[in-house]
Amino acid sequence: MSDDLFLRARQAMRKAHAPYSSFPVGAALRTTDGRIYAGCNVESVAFPEGWCAETTAIGHMVMDGGGRIAEIAVVAEKLVACSPCGGCRQRIAEFASAQTRVHLCDAAGGVVETVAMGELLPRAFDTTSLS
Ligand code: THU
Repeated sequence: MSDDLFLRARQAMRKAHAPYSSFPVGAALRTTDGRIYAGCNVESVAFPEGWCAETTAIGHMVMDGGGRIAEIAVVAEKLVACSPCGGCRQRIAEFASAQTRVHLCDAAGGVVETVAMGELLPRAFDTTSLS
């Protein structure tokens, strides 16, 4: 079930450091072997140096040994169904497949929509592009 991921993402969202955008975001991912990692956005007064919630969650996964992402939930305090930004789509894709489920959530209500990575990042630049 994705409810646990939503709850972890919302918990992470509450830790966001977003004083400039006032747009707290949380993300939680489940690896294919069942581990969960969460993250929030972390902004900087030098605006381009901030980063997204999905990126924090991926960093936790990598630091704990890495893995592949089976599903990921994203939630923003001020948006129903927050969809990952373009950069995060590419970062998620690094550890995902076209079938990886992305749960777009509403902070009050939970999962609003589930989409596949293949829908979010069609014709992705991937390892086959390098050969
Ligand atoms: N943000 C995320 O954390 N994830 C996304 O996928 C979209 C945007 C953050 C970045 C910034 O701190 C704030 O939302 C406003 O753009």
